Amino acid sequence: MNIDPFHLAWFLQGSSIQAWGADWTGNISEEWMSAGMFLDLARNIERSGFDYLLLEDSIYIGQNWQNKRDIFLTNGMSVPRQEPTVVASLMAAVTTRLGIVPTLSTFAYHPYLTARIVGTLDQVSDGRAGWNMVTGSSDFSGQNFGLDQLPEHDTRYDMAAEYIDVVTRLWDSWEPGAIVADRKTGVLIDPGKVHTIDHVGEYYKSRGPLNSGPAPQGRPVIAQAGGSPKGRAIAARYADTIVAHPKGIDGMKDYRRDVRAQMQAFGRDPNTCKVLFMAYPILGDTEQEAKEKADMRAVLAARNIEQRMAQIGWTTNIDFSSHDLDAPVAELTTNGHQSSLDNFIRKAGGKTLREAVIAYSSSGGSVDLVGTPDSVAAQMGDIMEEVGGDGFLIALPNVSRKSVAEITDGLVPALQQRGLVRKKYSHTQFRDNLLAF
Ligand SMILES: Cc1cc2nc3c(=O)[nH]c(=O)nc-3n(C[C@H](O)[C@H](O)[C@H](O)COP(=O)(O)O)c2cc1C
Repeated sequence: MNIDPFHLAWFLQGSSIQAWGADWTGNISEEWMSAGMFLDLARNIERSGFDYLLLEDSIYIGQNWQNKRDIFLTNGMSVPRQEPTVVASLMAAVTTRLGIVPTLSTFAYHPYLTARIVGTLDQVSDGRAGWNMVTGSSDFSGQNFGLDQLPEHDTRYDMAAEYIDVVTRLWDSWEPGAIVADRKTGVLIDPGKVHTIDHVGEYYKSRGPLNSGPAPQGRPVIAQAGGSPKGRAIAARYADTIVAHPKGIDGMKDYRRDVRAQMQAFGRDPNTCKVLFMAYPILGDTEQEAKEKADMRAVLAARNIEQRMAQIGWTTNIDFSSHDLDAPVAELTTNGHQSSLDNFIRKAGGKTLREAVIAYSSSGGSVDLVGTPDSVAAQMGDIMEEVGGDGFLIALPNVSRKSVAEITDGLVPALQQRGLVRKKYSHTQFRDNLLAF
């Protein structure tokens, strides 16, 4: 096999009490506020040459089960969630090469604020900041910000296009060389190189210039995760990296082919955006042990069926509590994550709701990866060879120091031995490393 190395990134589902009740989580229920485990995670994945760590965010407490928050609070499901940009700054301080990508939702932060926060993160990290651009998907989150409901799905993406335009123009509001810092003349900044943007659009207004100054990368890295046609189009137009969750190798191929074709139509070189596919590797010391761990997922899903339904409800905005578990899955629509619902419906195929929930909850990422570190490394290599690139977004549902070590000290060295991922960073800035191969 002779393929280019591929990229790895980590998807952290909030800095929070991860995997409450799971084994090997130490004293996380007492220690989570300091973010210590998540800073260790950042250090460890940097040691392993990951491109970036993406910090998910949603800005509300789930209420998608019996229209109550109880099941989410009792079981620590996606709550607590700390402000990701604060934790991102701490991560930047304990690393030197890793890209740090907090999520900022377009409905919750004004574009000026996003440009300023991500620009500042880029400064304090020496050019390693990214922004996970999401539109949000739950009315509950909108209600925390004075909205009765979020705009309709496709309108959210139209708004996002204008939003990204404003953010990038604000980043561009300082020309290169604007900071003169001439001690002899006493001039710090050349006023002729700092411009207003005077944006008055359909959805946003902003005067500029950005008062926080230029970002080392010029434009920090933009990450996006849209799965629907509108979401993919935005990603193809603006993203430097896409985190995607299509199902199966054919789904991965189609997704990447589509986005790359759309990039070309927008006049972009498709190699300037790296598409990473969600993966949840299940590792064991032997094939048998890994298979047993994988089989346990269905057992646990059946045991905690209400929680699993609430979790699916959280991503799809559907309250399943009144649905009959033993009847076929009803017809479903959403103003939330359309592609997540599509994945669920595809999995459901003629099954009862109970069977569909168990099947959906037992399949992790875009493809199942189960085995010893070496056999999973081989599987990942084969998949990338077939799909064509560009790498994987590791998303563990049970983040602990032990499960992180299985990846960083088990799987990654096996990938490195096969020449499939980098051993060392070749650049200091995030985008340069991302586009290095
Ligand atoms: C890997 C991944 C990470 C995501 N992270 C977030 C997030 O942090 N916050 C959020 O509101 N949505 C997040 N989403 C949801 C996407 O923004 C998007 O709504 C979803 O993929 C469905 O796409 P669609 O809206 O185009 O149907 C994520 C999706 C994926 C696949």
